[in-house]
Amino acid sequence: MPQVFTSLFLLIACLFLKQSCYVSAISVEKYLSLSLNEKVALEKFRERVDPILKQNFMKTDAYLIQFLRARHFDGDAAEKMIREMLQWRKDNAIDNMRLENWRDMAQDFHATIDTYDKTGRPVGVIDIYDWDIRQAVLQGNGRRLLRYVIYLVENITTQMYERQELGMNVTQVVVLGNADGFNVIQHGCPLCLPLWIQFIQIVESYYPQALDELIIIDASPAIQVVLEAIRPFLSRTTRDAIKIFGPNRAKWMAYLDDKISKAERRPKYGGTKPPMDY
Ligand SMILES: *[C@@H]1O[C@H](CO)[C@@H](O)[C@H](O)[C@H]1NC(C)=O
Ligand SMILES: *[C@@H]1O[C@H](CO)[C@@H](O)[C@H](O)[C@H]1NC(C)=O
Repeated sequence: MPQVFTSLFLLIACLFLKQSCYVSAISVEKYLSLSLNEKVALEKFRERVDPILKQNFMKTDAYLIQFLRARHFDGDAAEKMIREMLQWRKDNAIDNMRLENWRDMAQDFHATIDTYDKTGRPVGVIDIYDWDIRQAVLQGNGRRLLRYVIYLVENITTQMYERQELGMNVTQVVVLGNADGFNVIQHGCPLCLPLWIQFIQIVESYYPQALDELIIIDASPAIQVVLEAIRPFLSRTTRDAIKIFGPNRAKWMAYLDDKISKAERRPKYGGTKPPMDY
């Protein structure tokens, strides 16, 4: 209980003293191990982009460094990337997404956003088996489905920034999927692939380095077909972040137990958290 109160107190303090909280909670020294050269690059980069950044979470070291790292510390390229991200957010009204009504999507495409790994990273959990992507595309809902998935990404990345504000060392998110029943026709159909590819391009361009791991369990050989098709679109960081487990429960169980407590996982993921009532 005292911990809850401390967090609440910190949250309230942060709401009132926004600026100073950022400075104290997210300092390079505390959060990230950077070489001297990288620190210098980060400070230069901050001076360049600070005038165009309006939201506080974007001004943090943890955020800025992701763009620099994605562009190998090339300041020009990282600035271009930031500008493109801001334009994309504006063109697509990303900041207002949380106010939109997603009930129809949430009922048909099951995902949860209330799981955390042992280090406090938010975990987006996607029940891939019941996502009929093909049907959504055929019904003309492909774009809406993509927007819904971006809404989910926004939710868990925002949760990450909120945790940073509380002083938690959380700079990445995790995605966990159960691919039991994945089939090439429903999920990897030729009509569906552009959706996957667009989604990956969005994540790579506008949420660089935010993914700690993408863990897929109960994967059939069919999912490999899709992964091979999208592999060329992945950055090396993303490729390295993907972990795929077949139906051998013992193997993925040990891996997940190590990373996410059973109490945080729902039964399909080998845990004890009560199932979501969609
Ligand atoms: C994320 O979604 C949950 C459930 O819909 C909601 O309660 C929460 O406020 C959202 N958080 C953010 C940061 O959008
Ligand atoms: C913060 O988390 C990162 C990645 O998990 C880790 O490498 C680093 O040591 C942590 N830093 C602190 C101060 O806990």
